[in-house]
Amino acid sequence: MHYTRVAQLRSADQLRAYLASIGAELPFDEQVQSGPDSPLAQPYQVKGFTIGNRFSVLPMEGWDGTRDGHPSEMTVRRWQRFGISGAKLIWGGEATAVRADGRANPNQLMINEQTLSDIAGLRETLLKAHQERFGRTDDLLIGLQLTHSGRFCRPIDKKRLEPFTLYRHPLLDRKFGISDDSTLMSDDDIARLVDDFVHAACLAQRAGYAFVDIKHCHGYLGHEFLSATDRPGRYGGSLANRTRFLREIVAGIRAAAPGLDIGVRLSAFDWIPFHPGQDDVGEPEHFANGGYHYAFGSDASGMGLDLTEPLAFLDILKELDIQLVCITAGSPYYNPHIQRPALFPPSDGYQPPEDPLLGVARQINVVAALKQRRPELTYVGSGYSYLQEWLPNVAQHAVSAGRTDFVGLGRMVLSYPDLPADVLAGKPLQRKHICRSFSDCTTGPRNGLISGCYPLDDYYKHREEANILAGVKKDSA
Ligand SMILES: Cc1cc2nc3c(=O)[nH]c(=O)nc-3n(C[C@H](O)[C@H](O)[C@H](O)COP(=O)(O)O)c2cc1C
Repeated sequence: MHYTRVAQLRSADQLRAYLASIGAELPFDEQVQSGPDSPLAQPYQVKGFTIGNRFSVLPMEGWDGTRDGHPSEMTVRRWQRFGISGAKLIWGGEATAVRADGRANPNQLMINEQTLSDIAGLRETLLKAHQERFGRTDDLLIGLQLTHSGRFCRPIDKKRLEPFTLYRHPLLDRKFGISDDSTLMSDDDIARLVDDFVHAACLAQRAGYAFVDIKHCHGYLGHEFLSATDRPGRYGGSLANRTRFLREIVAGIRAAAPGLDIGVRLSAFDWIPFHPGQDDVGEPEHFANGGYHYAFGSDASGMGLDLTEPLAFLDILKELDIQLVCITAGSPYYNPHIQRPALFPPSDGYQPPEDPLLGVARQINVVAALKQRRPELTYVGSGYSYLQEWLPNVAQHAVSAGRTDFVGLGRMVLSYPDLPADVLAGKPLQRKHICRSFSDCTTGPRNGLISGCYPLDDYYKHREEANILAGVKKDSA
């Protein structure tokens, strides 16, 4: 497969022609505006709070906390960089486990009485950095993402899954070595976990966070509920049952932490798992049993879109008085190309089966479709980093055409944290910092190393882990 590199698309005409040639619908503005009147600089009101502009930092963990769930110096540095980004909405910071057995890795942050002051300290670090650079923080909204990693828990050993599942998944159980019912959570287990989320939210409020994100994406537990159509009982089957977990958490938070706002990060569509096929190019797993109904937001092929249930989910958010929604897709564990479009796959991935720009366009267009049909909610989009030099042009168009409310940035913030500030100030992009989607930030953790931008951030480039990572990549090549 040969895909043209984005850096080679130097003019708007070239970009337009290339997008047309690959069948990507990705509208963009030719000129990016700067200054207070520019579309990306426009403030946004949510529940009486004015958010200063339309950039958001997406949650990005670094696999670099301490074993007991405290942030490390590297974690603090990352949050400090979120603060200097210029983005005025910090969506969640990074996945923070509500209890020890729900961690995705032994170095994931945890929120409890012992870690509370350090989790509060991350927010303070971010605020301080933002204040120093931009002179105000009254228009900066900061939330904390709360998570339980479900079937992707690795709480003790980086290489050993200790899963919690909601139903027997015909493909994922096989792919990740589950062969019996021992990992299934009972309804009572779930009820206890609801209490843990509520407790964690109360702690987040004490730590000063304006909202908590009840994570429903990327194959983790909250997301798995949404496809638990085969599960019997209170938490499976109908959409009402599959959202009971969320509704119980929200009711608990409203009662125990009044004033704390709630958001949801949602994989608005999922696909069937992929694996490396011929020439390592990703191909879908074979599913022989007819219609695939395990991918929330997809059609029965497992590789399409059916937004009927995601729209119904948004209606439930409205009923729950949840305004903030961050849209993402799929899972980094079994279909990374739809979640983090990249030219160079992570070590446990596969060569891209489509031009990554198609993946970018899919995420942006799904947000636009959802926003068009449920305009009352506030949307943060994801998956923009692969746009590279063209990110500001696509972002500006998406906001000014009302296709999203906020442009969320993930990987780009690791390599080039203050891209939003540069765009808003009308400065030319610093090309040497632009994320080129080498996926080292994912390959690192997949091989037991901290995450970070090894190719472009000097802080990681010169660490010992960079050598180990280079060895891993050489071996796998
Ligand atoms: C290293 C790394 C860590 C991530 N950590 C989280 C996380 O903690 N929570 C989350 O919801 N998404 C996480 N993501 C997904 C990103 O928030 C984002 O959805 C994804 O990278 C696509 O956006 P982008 O194209 O701007 O990178 C992570 C992604 C990467 C690459």
